[in-house]
Parts: sequence; C-alpha cells; structure tokens
Amino acid sequence: MTDPATTPASAAHPRIDTSVPHSARIRNHWLGGKDNCPVDARAGDAYAAVFPGIVTLARGSRAFLRRTLTYLVREAGIRRFLDVGTGLPTAGNTHEVAQRPAPESRIVYVDNDPMVLTHARTLLRSSAEGATAYIDADATDPDRILAAATKTPDPTRPTGLVLSDILGHVVGHDQARSLVDRLMAAPPAGSHLCVNDGSSGVDPVFERAQGACNNSGAVPYHLRTVEEITSFFDGLRLVDPGVVPVTRWRPEPGSPAPEVVAEHGGPAREP
Ligand SMILES: C[S@@+](CC[C@H](N)C(=O)[O-])C[C@H]1O[C@@H](n2cnc3c(N)ncnc32)[C@H](O)[C@@H]1O
Repeated sequence: MTDPATTPASAAHPRIDTSVPHSARIRNHWLGGKDNCPVDARAGDAYAAVFPGIVTLARGSRAFLRRTLTYLVREAGIRRFLDVGTGLPTAGNTHEVAQRPAPESRIVYVDNDPMVLTHARTLLRSSAEGATAYIDADATDPDRILAAATKTPDPTRPTGLVLSDILGHVVGHDQARSLVDRLMAAPPAGSHLCVNDGSSGVDPVFERAQGACNNSGAVPYHLRTVEEITSFFDGLRLVDPGVVPVTRWRPEPGSPAPEVVAEHGGPAREP
C-alpha cells in the first residue's frame, strides 16, 4: 500500500531555487545522478577539487545507511522508519533497503527541499505489503513532523529514526540535540536512532572544502566533532561497535577501508 495522504497537492508546482546550490542536489551530483542543476554541479566540482575524497565519503555514507537499515530490520525487528532529510532518490532508498527483507515495512520520508518533493513519487513506490509516505516539512519543526507522522500507518510501533547527513544543516548544536530528543521522545521503547554526520577534527582538507562551500552561498553544513555527534545518542544504548567512522560500522568483507574517514555514526536503541 502506498499512502500519499501526507503529500500535498502542490507537489507538482514547488518553487525550486536554481540560483543557490542545495545539498540534496550536490549530493546527487557526487553520486552520479542527473537530478541537479548547473549551480549544484559547479559547487560539487569545486568541493571535489579541494577534497577529492568527497565522492568516496558520500558513497561510504550511503553504504553505512544500507548496512544499518538492514541491521534494524533483520536484527532489531524494526518495521517502521522515519527518514528525515531524505535526499533525492538514489540507488538504495530507505524503503527499498528495508522492504527487501521485510516487504511489510512502512517508511515516512521528510524533507524540505522542493526538488526532493517533485521526486516524492519515486519514494512512494512501496511494496504492496508495506507503505510509504512523504512529509514536506522542516526538520527544525519536529512537532509538525510528528503531527503529520501520526497520520501515517502504525504510528505507535517502534520506529527507526534515520538522520543521515542532515543534522549539519541545523546550525546550533543545542538546537540539533533538542530536535533529536524531541523526535525520539515520541516513538515507544525499542525504537532506534540512526545518525551519521560529517565530522570535524579528523581531516583538515575536508574541513577546508566544507568551509569554502559554506562561504560560496550554498546552503551551509556545519561539521561537528565526534564527541558532539556521539552526544546525539545520550540516554540511548549504542549498538556495537558504537559511534565510529561510517566505513567501520560492521563493514562487509572486502569493502574499502580508508584510513581517515571524516564521517561518523551508528545506530542506538531506546531502552
Ligand atoms: C546531504 S543531504 C543527505 C540526503 C540523504 N539523507 C543521504 O544520506 O543521502 C541532506 C538532506 O537534508 C535535507 N534538509 C536540509 N535541511 C533540512 C531541513 N531544515 N529540514 C528538512 N530537510 C532538510 C536536504 O534537502 C537534503 O535532502
């Protein structure tokens, strides 16, 4: 079942600003997609000229998401997901990964980028047994997200809250923490939080590239220290091996293992 109830009728006519690089579209460019504008491709290329490792980092982050989602479905028994800061559809969208082993999985996507909204139809292609929904909302308004999410199927089930490379868009660390706390306060015990984010204090070249991108007029992204990223999980039980470079979270045999990875994350369980 697909539940488009939360997708507004205005989806066909969103206001897409093509004058400013947007993170979903820059990331789409890095991942080899075509859903981006010249301004995004230019910003992505300028970033990669300073820090060529960004493409590997973006792929490593998506691979981390695939492994953690698979863990949440197969080992933690999660069948409902709230994916905030969804991004443009790519290979291995959350519903595709979760519904492969568990077709009945239900996924609620949330993003505030009008370009992502225009692609919501792809994100709403659920398996027949499961359901997907899309909420056009700002992550900094968790109450609005939760109010809309309660209208989607199974709102009281243990939920996997996915925050993959979005919290850096929230400027203040305290604000980012309080929005994570608010979103995690709603679902019941047994729910999981999965965060991965670009980390500072690891690779100065990465930080230089991100700083230049932020100063270029692109929607800014604020890197956080590993300690700050770890603090998003306060009060939760981290799943082994804890908050680590994303490529080291239960890597598949033979997968690349770069020495320095400025992206940290992990899943944790609500006790
Ligand atoms: C770097 S992309 C990450 C996309 C995806 N989660 C992934 O891991 O590939 C960041 C996403 O967060 C979205 N985003 C940024 N700020 C947001 C906000 N305040 N509210 C909702 N979504 C936001 C962007 O539109 C974009 O889709």
